[in-house]
Amino acid sequence: METATEVTRLAPEDLDGAARVAVDAMPMPGELPERRFERVRRRLAAGCATDPEGVWVAREEGRIAGFAMALTSDGLWVLAQLFVDPATQGRGLGRALLTRALRSAAGARGALITASADPRAIRLYGGAGFAPRPALSAHGPVDRRALPALELVRDGDVDDVERTAAIDRAVRGGARTRHIAQLVATGDRLYLARGGRGYAVGTPQGRVATLAAVDEEAARALLWRVLADVPADGNATVHGLTATQAWAFDVALCAGLALAPGGPLFTRGRVGPLTPFLPSGAYS
Ligand SMILES: CC(C)(COP(=O)(O)OP(=O)(O)OC[C@H]1O[C@@H](n2cnc3c(N)ncnc32)[C@H](O)[C@@H]1OP(=O)(O)O)[C@@H](O)C(=O)NCCC(=O)NCCS
Repeated sequence: METATEVTRLAPEDLDGAARVAVDAMPMPGELPERRFERVRRRLAAGCATDPEGVWVAREEGRIAGFAMALTSDGLWVLAQLFVDPATQGRGLGRALLTRALRSAAGARGALITASADPRAIRLYGGAGFAPRPALSAHGPVDRRALPALELVRDGDVDDVERTAAIDRAVRGGARTRHIAQLVATGDRLYLARGGRGYAVGTPQGRVATLAAVDEEAARALLWRVLADVPADGNATVHGLTATQAWAFDVALCAGLALAPGGPLFTRGRVGPLTPFLPSGAYS
């Protein structure tokens, strides 16, 4: 039987349905579903306000069955979220949503996607002209005996967010201060390498939310600093260890984390050297 599918801009009344799809399509181990629902909903609401051309929902028989959110900042387009309800996956909705979201990439210098390892996602991004950078992910408790001295790094706060712009322009090819500010405002921790050499963001649950630095010594110190704050009874998570992040691979090995293939980083157009760099899932 034919089902009626439509893709439209995401409206405020769609926020709950879309956030529910994200929770169902990709449960996050270590994060309560209600907490994840609120986090996705808040990010979607922010995305609708700043990037209305980038946020789309798909409906099947009137029910929200998927959404895409793309955010553009300082000339870099990022696919922040793409989810299709498990009951309707594999029927072309992901492709339809990505096609709409990519319209907002028309004027961007470059584009980044931190992909999941889902073969459907990888196929979609490859088909849209993105080049893959395969990546490892690291996970597990931190061996604290390996922690080095960390004088190079200090804790930051919301007043330091503007300092991330120059570092991101040099490393990613574009700043994302509005997104870093949002992470810090919602409880993530900001760390700065002295002398403007880099910064990192860590979540209270022990995930490296992102890291960018102008040299590897600063990058190593920042990564160790985030790992030092992983709860003693919790696990660290580090995504996006591409081939050019050998410095992060070394730190992950020394810290005793388990490394395994993860979702690739995809790039299109003009982006920065992307090293030393660990991408943010939502804000690459
Ligand atoms: C990834 C996701 C958004 C794709 O949406 P979807 O509606 O399921 O995918 P589509 O039906 O549009 O198919 C996408 C492509 O994958 C192909 N495909 C479908 N099933 C597949 C499978 N099991 N293995 C490999 N490719 C598959 C399709 O043929 C299509 O390629 P084509 O257009 O070149 O033929 C969706 O599956 C999802 O939400 N997955 C879980 C969350 C996730 O990983 N999101 C991505 C975050 S980066």
